[in-house]
Amino acid sequence: ANKLGSKKERTLAMIKPDAVCKLGDILQMIYDANLIVTKAKMTKLTWREAADFYTEHQTKSFFNNLVQFMTSGPVVAMELLGDEAVSVWRRILGPTDSSTARKEASLSLRAQFGTDGTRNAGHGSDSLASAARELEFFFPSTAGQGPANTASYSDC
Ligand code: PPS
Repeated sequence: ANKLGSKKERTLAMIKPDAVCKLGDILQMIYDANLIVTKAKMTKLTWREAADFYTEHQTKSFFNNLVQFMTSGPVVAMELLGDEAVSVWRRILGPTDSSTARKEASLSLRAQFGTDGTRNAGHGSDSLASAARELEFFFPSTAGQGPANTASYSDC
């Protein structure tokens, strides 16, 4: 923890296929929240990859629907770095169901760019443990990939 009692965390943010066209607005929300994008990748998930990513939901009634949607177009995966990044990004996202999100006073990402409980614009890791797993999923730390990214963001 730093002097103010907050701690730097890394989390996995994913822009779902229905909101990739809103990437610019979403990046602005990320920067306004004092989070930094330290890794980013646009990719189209295969059925197997999406099913693997959401493996904890494989017994749920909505699983096929979820995988179908997540493979319907490209997604943008990002590593976000900042104070309490896990909860800050989840707060930016808003409630899982976008129609619920629209009933809230604050204009969350899902309230603005999502449609319902399936097409809900974005995903965020729900804990530090799932952030570690989900970051490894999109940005694997394989041996022999060279030195870590030590780029400084202070001069940009
Ligand atoms: S649960 O059962 O409470 O763990 O589920 P929940 O947190 O509400 O949702 C987990 C993820 O599944 C997505 N979801 C759905 N996708 C498609 N169709 C339906 N009906 C549906 N219901 C929930 C939801 O968007 C969550 O996705 P992520 O990416 O984790 O936010």
